[in-house]
Amino acid sequence: MAELRNPPGTFDVLPPDSGRWSALLATFARVAASAGYGLVVTPTFEDLAVFQRVGESTDVVRKEMYDFADKGGRRVALRPEVTASVVRAWVQHRPPTPWKTWYAGSNFRYERQQAGRYREFHQVGIEAIGSADPDLDVEVVAVGWDFYRAVGLDGVELLINSLGDATCRPAYREALLDYLRARLGQLCDEHQARLEENPLRVLDCKKAPCRAVVAGAPRQLDHLCEACAAHFARVVAGLDSLGIPHRIETTLVRGLDYYTRTTFEYCAPALETANNAVGGGGRYDGLVEEMGGPPTPAIGFALGVERILLALDATSAAAPAATAPLDVFVIDFAGGEAARDLSAALRRAGLRVDRAWDGRSTKAQFRAADRAGAPLAVIVGPDEAAAGSARIKDLRDGHERSVAAARVVAEVVDILRPTGGTG
Ligand code: HAM
Repeated sequence: MAELRNPPGTFDVLPPDSGRWSALLATFARVAASAGYGLVVTPTFEDLAVFQRVGESTDVVRKEMYDFADKGGRRVALRPEVTASVVRAWVQHRPPTPWKTWYAGSNFRYERQQAGRYREFHQVGIEAIGSADPDLDVEVVAVGWDFYRAVGLDGVELLINSLGDATCRPAYREALLDYLRARLGQLCDEHQARLEENPLRVLDCKKAPCRAVVAGAPRQLDHLCEACAAHFARVVAGLDSLGIPHRIETTLVRGLDYYTRTTFEYCAPALETANNAVGGGGRYDGLVEEMGGPPTPAIGFALGVERILLALDATSAAAPAATAPLDVFVIDFAGGEAARDLSAALRRAGLRVDRAWDGRSTKAQFRAADRAGAPLAVIVGPDEAAAGSARIKDLRDGHERSVAAARVVAEVVDILRPTGGTG
């Protein structure tokens, strides 16, 4: 039989490595909650139309979507991102605004696999729907910034730009088109073919010919209407006030079509991959309406979990803690009843407890306890079983005491309680 393996562009996360993963998610949940964001959970697949709204001209929708007809003949797609689903959910349920939510989960894009680019990848993110206040942009950017700091990822660079709005973008688009049409032959093949469809995408092209042309191209920042310019100035002032360093990047357009006004990306220079963005986001003041809701401004970001872990690996910064270590390992060579009952009782007291299985030898059980790294072992041999007692051994200093079985939980809790305080 052919060996079964995970599909290309996907991977398995196994313990103890997954400890960093869960620590990262827990930190994100804490940071998001501290700013008033509540968890939102939406389906991993949606009606194809939900995602088509994020941009028919984007690679994400045109080339990379996992879409198919299900057994009921519905056109569905695995989500390539979460923002569209969150907006769909808001339009459907209409919770009061501002509606501030966070999420964590997988996304699917049929991309060419390379370091930091997967076909199933994971994001954590926030979305805030229902406010146009530029200070909300500052809050959103700051939540991401504070999260990177909380997981110990140093050296993140924040790039920020404004893409204008329906008032000023059309004129800018025309100015850009005029400039690029005059230099059509100098663009890369793809953008020569697709210029008229989405000229802004040329700004983001990483190929040398396009970059050379873009260097002299008109900049959206110089074409902002008064309201967009004031909005952007307030956002930049807010970031300064919060001490969040940022670089204004006039060619930052991002890979989805829904953005208006503030757009931003967090990059980790430590990642030596073609794309070192560990997160990105921005305003999407028109998307709610696109999805059938009333005109409603909104903003959010999503951060790539895998890329953050890669970036942590690539920096000397301390990685998030691995799986929480055990408190107690129960060793039972008297039939197993004590191991069964004592581990349950210790767990019910809130402790992290493990044990050996299949009637392993005493030696093998001690080895397992060692490997597990628990500070304490509770040991029950035939003598203890007969006397209704157990031995509690401190594996750090070898100190051992015998206690009645009924006292084990209280004694263990007592030993593990942090000392040094006055109680
Ligand atoms: P995005 O820039 O497409 O934005 O993705 C956000 C982050 O997800 C990227 O910066 C990157 O870290 C990670 N990422 C994207 N694609 C891959 C991949 N194939 N493999 C590994 N990591 C990847 C969005 O998804 C928007 N929904 C962000 C947003 C939220 N805008 C407003 N609200």
